[in-house]
Amino acid sequence: MRLPPRVPLGTFPTPLEPLPRLSRELGIEVLVKRDDLTGLALGGNKVRKLEMLLADAVAGGADAVVTCGSVQSNHCRCTAAAARKLGLECGLVLFDGRHNEENGNLLLDHLFGATVERHPAAAKPRAEALMTELGRRYRRPYRIPFGGSNALGAAAYAWGYQELLEQLGGRRGTVFCVTSSGATHAGLVAGQAILGGPQVVGVSIADRVVDARPRVARLVVETLRLLGEERPYRVTVLGGQQGGGYGIPSKAGLAAIRLLARTEGILLDPVYTAKAMAALIERARGGQVAEPAIFLHSGGVPALFSYAAELL
Ligand SMILES: Cc1ncc(COP(=O)(O)O)c(C=O)c1O
Repeated sequence: MRLPPRVPLGTFPTPLEPLPRLSRELGIEVLVKRDDLTGLALGGNKVRKLEMLLADAVAGGADAVVTCGSVQSNHCRCTAAAARKLGLECGLVLFDGRHNEENGNLLLDHLFGATVERHPAAAKPRAEALMTELGRRYRRPYRIPFGGSNALGAAAYAWGYQELLEQLGGRRGTVFCVTSSGATHAGLVAGQAILGGPQVVGVSIADRVVDARPRVARLVVETLRLLGEERPYRVTVLGGQQGGGYGIPSKAGLAAIRLLARTEGILLDPVYTAKAMAALIERARGGQVAEPAIFLHSGGVPALFSYAAELL
């Protein structure tokens, strides 16, 4: 696989670890790929994507990075930190969500000295125009879409899949990941299509399956094209975990947070990884998973602190 260039930002490869106590609880073997431990600024999946996205920005002579997300966006927090590490400015267009207080990721955006512009949630469809507008204050801004989810961001998860495959040493099983803006899932699927190995299951955390699936499929096609490959691929999106929608913790997700904390000392976040783990738990208990179940922990833990009231 011919992967795009990267700029070093995080710590790779991330560990693949057994979860013996959770495995005993669920009656199947569960492994975790620790992309919550990517190292930069409390880590998460976005650091992996940013290694490729910001390599492109630097190669193009950018002096600033401009991106967008919700007020508690992990992607924006990681982008702000990565920009600083590379000596770049960072502009963030943030949309109000469930938690808008100056805590969690937003607190960290400020610490990294990002220029933060706040907008009501209703302004989301104008994200591109708002980023262009904010970018005018820089000489050569590099724009990154919601979640770092374009073909280049997704290619980083084809690399992630390759890394995982090497760690699995020929074992199969099922990979569970979050599907939101879609590039993490799409990149893993593209990696699977090219390299073979365990099937990938994405868990939609906010959207209906009929909306999430075509978004991921489109990104898979674009990613395979970027990687110079033409392969058959399979996009599997699981629904049923969205609860009240984006940013609203679900009952099963909150139970998953407690279970992982108490069995393994591992933290999940209420917006993304808790809902994906809830799907894994539900399927494992229903005997519907090819072993081992491999959970891609995509991070998001800084948001936990904004959700104290819901968690307690
Ligand atoms: C912690 C965490 N997990 C998963 C995701 C989903 O990744 P993607 O946007 O590539 O679908 C995100 C995206 O914001 C995230 O912050």
